[in-house]
Amino acid sequence: MDYAKYNAGARALHWITAVIIVANLAGGLLKESLSDVVPIMPVHKATGVTVLALSLIRLGWRLTWRAPAYPATMGRLERGLAHSVHGLLYLLMIAMPLSGWIMSSGGKYPISWFGLFEWPKLPVPRGSVLQEFGAQFHETAGWLMLALVLGHVAAALRHHFILKDGVLRRML
Ligand code: HEM
Ligand code: HEM
Repeated sequence: MDYAKYNAGARALHWITAVIIVANLAGGLLKESLSDVVPIMPVHKATGVTVLALSLIRLGWRLTWRAPAYPATMGRLERGLAHSVHGLLYLLMIAMPLSGWIMSSGGKYPISWFGLFEWPKLPVPRGSVLQEFGAQFHETAGWLMLALVLGHVAAALRHHFILKDGVLRRML
């Protein structure tokens, strides 16, 4: 069977950001145990702001084309659920790094992009309500994002191995 695919740019951006986001979710949640072995946070921040930049590019690019049609076997409810999860994932791909950036802007360490240049800080005073909001949001939304990613992956695997309807192959 022939499957309409997502375009090459969309596929590349999907997989690059997916790998970094999974690493950042894991790194963030395991930071205490990992920090005894390697200083994880400088890398977490550099990869995180990279996700912000890539996601803005991805979202802008996404508005210029239509996704390939779903198989006719997919009902309205399933399509609606898929669209809602994708929408929330897009939102969190922006909001997670943004809240991290806000929180870290009020911190004492510089935000370095892999030692190559310094990422600018937002005007967030140390100990301010805004910094605290960034930190709270980053933590809560991190759990929400983890749950959505797990659901998203489970759905992709269900399409591939149970329904065998080619939905996963559109993104490969
Ligand atoms: C895709 C992007 C990102 C994801 C998925 C992500 C995920 C997480 C998660 C799950 C945690 C653990 C929960 C917590 O302690 O708050 C965390 C912690 C943290 N993140 Fe991120 N993060 C991202 C981007 C960023 C960025 C861009 C920055 C800063 C520039 C940042 C700075 C931090 C800091 C400083 C902590 C430790 C907070 C603490 O110990 O209280 N993160 N991140
Ligand atoms: C952090 C990890 C991930 C994030 C944030 C993410 C995000 C997204 C988003 C936002 C879309 C919608 C694309 C669009 O229409 O513009 C999408 C589509 C898709 N993703 Fe992911 N994804 C992640 C990981 C994965 C993984 C690990 C798999 C496979 C096991 C996967 C499989 C797919 C498939 C098959 C589609 C197309 C689904 C459809 O058209 O309904 N994704 N992903």
